[in-house]
Amino acid sequence: MFDFDRVIQRRGTHSSKWDNIAKLSGITAPDAIPMWVADMDFAAPPGVTAALAAEVERGTHGYYADTGTWAEALANWMARRHGLKVDPAWVSPTPGIVSGLGLILQALTEPGDDVVVFPPVYHAFRRIIVANQRRILDAELTEANGRYAMDLDALAAKLTPRTKIVFLCSPHNPGGTVWSPAELKALATFCAEHDLILVSDEIHCDLVFPGARHTPTLTAAPECADRIITCVAATKTFNLAGAHVGACFTSNADFKKRLDARIMATGLASYNSFGMIATEAAWRTGEAWLDALIPYLARNRDLLHARIEAAAPGARAMKLDATYLAWIDFAGTGLAPEEVSRRVKQGARIFPSPGEQFGPGGETRLRFNFATPRPILEEALGRLDEAFRDLRSGR
Ligand SMILES: Cc1ncc(COP(=O)(O)O)c(C=O)c1O
Repeated sequence: MFDFDRVIQRRGTHSSKWDNIAKLSGITAPDAIPMWVADMDFAAPPGVTAALAAEVERGTHGYYADTGTWAEALANWMARRHGLKVDPAWVSPTPGIVSGLGLILQALTEPGDDVVVFPPVYHAFRRIIVANQRRILDAELTEANGRYAMDLDALAAKLTPRTKIVFLCSPHNPGGTVWSPAELKALATFCAEHDLILVSDEIHCDLVFPGARHTPTLTAAPECADRIITCVAATKTFNLAGAHVGACFTSNADFKKRLDARIMATGLASYNSFGMIATEAAWRTGEAWLDALIPYLARNRDLLHARIEAAAPGARAMKLDATYLAWIDFAGTGLAPEEVSRRVKQGARIFPSPGEQFGPGGETRLRFNFATPRPILEEALGRLDEAFRDLRSGR
């Protein structure tokens, strides 16, 4: 029903993923394959394309009014897919999650305050904290049985009087760890004990593989609801990142009021109609597409993990319960990180995300986006096999 094998030419289409390769990676080969930024090479769900086409066909593109049906579509999606009851009145649309995080920082913290993150973690957390003159407080994750864990005792020892807020990534990017209800509850309780606001970025919540299940932080710790702000979006799930629409929601009326005041003060209380139409259509019509996508991604994940571990003896893939972003540790190959990077970028002409971008714990790793049609993935895996061939010659 959905042809995820279809290769769509994205070069020359203002695609950051494809058209920024040379600028960001230095790889100038015309056949370079991008496996970095988290967007997919698949066509959006047909219902999204139809909704956008209808808008284009009408030909009038004035200001967008009334976010009511959009917030209702979001609430219905969260109830259906995650069993979470979201009151549409809790929801503030933002031009994406990262901008939402910046607005939350501005609304609820002061310059110089500490923001807790759990590295290795999505690099834009660091960027938006620093850009807002707040300080990063790293609470390094530990690794056991192929998944990450939070060390709250170690974090407790690091807190300062200026620690105000925690940015959680759930499911976690990179590494694909799906946090258990007990882990989420422990974190929320910790936040209550230390009077911290908990921001739960759940943008990857729909991209969870069979065998794992996402628990919204609000569900795990309803007693802490008043200190939780949740961020979600249709853009990661349905490949609409360019639409730049996200949602922050909280049942804390004071937080919501302060966030909305920031949104008003920055002139962001008027919305991009194409983004709103696309994301509403995705939540309303995209379910069958997503249900078909997940097994396709799972197969890509399994292929990539097996082939990279075979290509570069000692390389190790983190067990990925969520996200389409494989997190590969090359420490066991005995190669220096610069040499691994040289082989992948210059040898294989593949641009993954460099591990150090994600902060402490990422130094020996690369993150590979495998949300691409299988013919492209196969080409990439063949090239990686070639790039590490000499490592296997003595076997
Ligand atoms: C954890 C996480 N949050 C946010 C984003 C980006 O959100 P947006 O494009 O809505 O700013 C990403 C993109 O990869 C992500 O991985």
